[in-house]
Amino acid sequence: MDFDFQTLPAQDRYRLLCSFVAPRPIALVSTCGPDGVPNAAPMSFFNVFSQDPPIVILGIQARPDGTEKDTMRNIRRDGEFVVNMCDMAIAQQMVDCGCAFDEAVDEIDITGLHHAPSYKIAPPRVAEAPASMECRVERLIEFPRRVIVLGEVVQMHVRDGCLDDQGHYLREGTYQPVARLHADNYIVSDQQFVLSETQDIKTRGRS
Ligand SMILES: Cc1cc2nc3c(=O)[nH]c(=O)nc-3n(C[C@H](O)[C@H](O)[C@H](O)COP(=O)(O)O)c2cc1C
Repeated sequence: MDFDFQTLPAQDRYRLLCSFVAPRPIALVSTCGPDGVPNAAPMSFFNVFSQDPPIVILGIQARPDGTEKDTMRNIRRDGEFVVNMCDMAIAQQMVDCGCAFDEAVDEIDITGLHHAPSYKIAPPRVAEAPASMECRVERLIEFPRRVIVLGEVVQMHVRDGCLDDQGHYLREGTYQPVARLHADNYIVSDQQFVLSETQDIKTRGRS
């Protein structure tokens, strides 16, 4: 089957893209509301794109009525957000944070998660998250119903025990991220394996 993306309705493009560009990592994004009330929402249009500068990217779409989501409004106003990574222990809470709660509701609190203070920015991180990245907005790329947010990571917190003593490498089995497939389908990364280049692969290209 073949699809012309210039004529295909957006919802069909969404289904196709999200079915095949998968699994996608999930950022549980925490921000501060206008009254300082914390806000948290999951975003799977998310990834890291560079370490120098350290850049993460979010794709935040408007609500069906065209208004901006709380996360986007907060990021636009304060220029700060935390990306909290998710494992199975907080997968249900992460999904629950995706409900369209009123702005006055603190999703971290209502889902039974806890706040932990950030070091460099105002929004709290999620205490239960295996890793959290404090970000400042680097730039916003505006589309009619979506904003692509580039965030520079200014501080990273990693749960005790996840890294080796030097803080260089992940200890196997200590971090099994949950990622999104399509719709309400998720997958957990619990089957790690090692794959390296075939020994003589370089010589095969030589004549
Ligand atoms: C796993 C998951 C991933 C999601 N990814 C995105 C996303 O990448 N972009 C987006 O705009 N909404 C995404 N959503 C929907 C938002 O989380 C949802 O609209 C939420 O209510 C927004 O909350 P807010 O108004 O507090 O920002 C996702 C929801 C779930 C459950």
